[in-house]
Parts: sequence; C-alpha cells; structure tokens
Amino acid sequence: MNGTDLADRIGRHTARIAVIGQGYVGLPLAVEFARAGFVVTGLDTDADRIARLTRGESYIPDVPAEDLQQVIEAGRYVATADVTALVDQDAVILCVPTPLRKSKDPDVSHVVACARDVARFLAPGQLVVLESTTYPGTTEEVLLPMFEEGGLRVGQDFYLAFSPERIDPGNPTYRVKEIPKLVGGVTPACTRMAAMLYRQIVAQVFELSSPAVAELAKLYENTFRSVNIALANELALICHHLGVSVWEVIEAAATKPFGFMPFSPGPGIGGHCIPIDPFYLSWKARLNGYEAKFIGLADEINRTMPRFVLELVNRALNDRGKPVKGARILVLGVAYKRGVGDVRESPAVEIIEELLERGAQVQYVDPFVPTLTIRERGLEASRLEPGLLRWSYVALILTDHREFDYETVVREAPLIVDTRNATRGLAPQDHKIVRL
Ligand SMILES: NC(=O)c1ccc[n+]([C@@H]2O[C@H](COP(=O)([O-])OP(=O)(O)OC[C@H]3O[C@@H](n4cnc5c(N)ncnc54)[C@H](O)[C@@H]3O)[C@@H](O)[C@H]2O)c1
Repeated sequence: MNGTDLADRIGRHTARIAVIGQGYVGLPLAVEFARAGFVVTGLDTDADRIARLTRGESYIPDVPAEDLQQVIEAGRYVATADVTALVDQDAVILCVPTPLRKSKDPDVSHVVACARDVARFLAPGQLVVLESTTYPGTTEEVLLPMFEEGGLRVGQDFYLAFSPERIDPGNPTYRVKEIPKLVGGVTPACTRMAAMLYRQIVAQVFELSSPAVAELAKLYENTFRSVNIALANELALICHHLGVSVWEVIEAAATKPFGFMPFSPGPGIGGHCIPIDPFYLSWKARLNGYEAKFIGLADEINRTMPRFVLELVNRALNDRGKPVKGARILVLGVAYKRGVGDVRESPAVEIIEELLERGAQVQYVDPFVPTLTIRERGLEASRLEPGLLRWSYVALILTDHREFDYETVVREAPLIVDTRNATRGLAPQDHKIVRL
C-alpha cells in the first residue's frame, strides 16, 4: 500500500485503525472513530479491561456503555490484548501512560514497549501517531529510530506524527469531537496524513511544523494549568492570613473581561496530567542546560495544600473542643476532580491517610469511587444520607461532585470544612462552615 491508497482509505472511512491503550484517552478516541464508520481495534495489556470492553462495559464516564455496545454490534470495534492484531492496520495510535519515576524523571517505558510491538508489524503505507503526553523529542529521538530500523523510510514508506490528546474527562461540553487537535508530523507528508485522519472525527485540526512543537504545546498547556492553580492556592494561603475570602477575591477579579482567567484553589492537584506533565518539560530543559523555575515552585505550593486542609480540619475540631483522634470525619468526594472516578494522585488519598494515622474514624462518599485503598486498607463508599452527616463531627468536602445534595449537607452536618466553595450561597449558619 502507498500514501495515495492510505489517504483514499481514510477519506472513505475504510482504513483500519488500532488504538493502543484503552484508558481515559484511548477508549473515547477508539469509540469515536468506530462511530464514524472505521473498523477499530482497541489494544490493551490489561486482561480485565479487555474482558469488560468485550462485554460492552465501559469504565470511562465519557463513554456511555450504549455507544460502546452499538459499535461492537456493528462489528466496528473489538478489544484485544493480542498484539498480532497490529498486522494489516492502516493507522496505529498510541495512548499509553507516561508516568514519572520516583525521581520525578519521565518514564516512557510504556511508550517504548508498545512502539516495539508497532515496529514488529510496521508495514509500508502505515500511519503511526503518538498521543501520550511526553517530552519534546520522544517522537523523533525515541520512536523514529525504532521504526526505521527495519529499513522503511519515514515520509515515504510510512508516516509518523505526534498529536497530543487534550481530553478533559468528565467535561460534557468538550468531548473528542469538539476539542481542536494539534498535529506535528516528522515530514510534511506525515503531518498531512495524520491531520487527514483526525479531520474525519474532529472539527478543527491544526497542522504544526514538527512533532516537537506539538509535544511542547501540550506540556505548556498543562504547565500553564499547574502554575495558575498554584497561584490560586497561594492566594488562598495569603487570604487565610488576611482573613479575607479567596473565593470572593477571585470572583471579583474575574469580572474583568480581558487579561484575566479565573483558576480555583483546592485541596491539591491530582490525576494523570497536572502533577506529572510539567516535570517532562523541566527534565528535558535540564538535559539541555536550563533549570525551569515555575514548574518546581508550582508543584511545591500545590503539594502544601493537603497539609493546609488537615490544619483547617484540626483547628475546626479544636475550636469545638474535639481532638482529631477518635473524631468522626465524613469525606465528601475522593476523586481528584468533579465528575470523574479517578483517584490517581488525588489529594484525598493523602488527607485520609493522615487522618487515619492520627486516629480519626473516616467514612467517605463518592458516587464515582465505590472502593478506595489507603495503605493496603480497603475502604468502601457510604451513601450520603442525613444520618451519616449527623454521625460525623465534620463533613470535609474535597471534591465538588454535582451529585451531592449540598443543601442537605449544610442542613445536617454539625460542622463543614469546604475546600471547593461547594456550599457557596447555602450557608444560613455560616459559622459552622470553614472555607479554604
Ligand atoms: N487522563 C487524561 O485526562 C489525559 C488527558 C490528556 C492526555 N493524557 C495522556 O494520555 C496518555 C494516556 O493516559 P490515560 O489517562 O488514558 O491512561 P490510562 O491509564 O487511563 O490508560 C492507559 C492504558 O494503556 C494500557 N497500556 C499500558 N501499557 C500498554 C502497552 N504496552 N500496550 C497496550 N496497552 C498498554 C493500560 O493498561 C491502560 O489501560 C498519558 O500520556 C496521559 O498523560 C491523559
């Protein structure tokens, strides 16, 4: 197959697409291509995930089970752990995790592992796209040599591009289709081919001059978030010392229609992106002789927040003559943000761990997280009921899920520590609510 054949198959939606990694990023993407008529194979090394997907069960809130079942029944989606499914694919998209090592250096071992599989089955005319967030240079310095080792030439025999995933799990306004895509190919032909593929499912695709620009753009986006969240968190700490509501200050500043964008403080940062991605940038900068300053500082401030929340709980209980030891604490929300069940890096884990360590009795509610493991100890989610709120000495709001009935929380809980301003405007007895 040559480039004309591939472009033709993409345009007619007959190209066969494999998406490696069926998580928060890979599954919505695979299902979107399948819904557009492509035959898609979802590859994953996690046998349990493959079994669930094959049964038509979705574990990602942004992918309704009905959508998944429809594409399975139509014969346009199959999930498998068998890498030989990479034979005869027209396009292969890599969506595997890119975590940090304990040293906070990038760990691209998952990318390398699946690129090895791709290299084994790489065939003339194939398009390969990396979507995992990673440091600038990964596509050209790590993947390209692996793919050219077998003698095929990029831009002529096969196409290689980087296109960062920008999905925001749990955001109903911006889904795969609505989020503009960036594409940077190793050669102009690579860029054009990858852009053409994404244009079949995404309204806006921007072509960039290189993979490095696309890799950096993604890291800049997430560093921007980390730094601005840190600034909001620092403002919360300053406001606390000044006895002023940080929420009111941010709301006031946000009335300016230009030159300002509001970010919210909170109990800390979590998820697979914001606490991790900026370190991919600072690591690469360091290797090239530049020490990034904002990234480390933002992380330092963001990481003080769980301790600050513990201090708020401690003081609120102390003011009522109660020690943390033996206190009944009801945590509302353990996911790292509203609307998702993701507890990776969630500050709630650190906060609950410390509360248990100090001898508190902790129960939690979270409609998206049925069970939670804290230091090998399994906790089960409770239902948010008036009796449970009355049982608690303090209700600690860590995630502002829309599913919580805050009016009941404000009415029934004897004391509330609200780290998200979720009880805004609902406080007849304001004295029992401590806000960040
Ligand atoms: N979660 C987000 O909000 C988000 C948003 C934008 C970008 N990203 C980036 O996208 C990438 C994937 O993130 P995610 O949240 O989807 O991760 P995830 O952990 O939800 O999913 C990754 C999947 O890849 C599978 N996997 C790992 N190694 C594999 C291999 N060698 N072969 C096949 N499958 C393999 C895992 O079993 C897992 O199911 C990361 O680089 C992340 O930074 C994530």
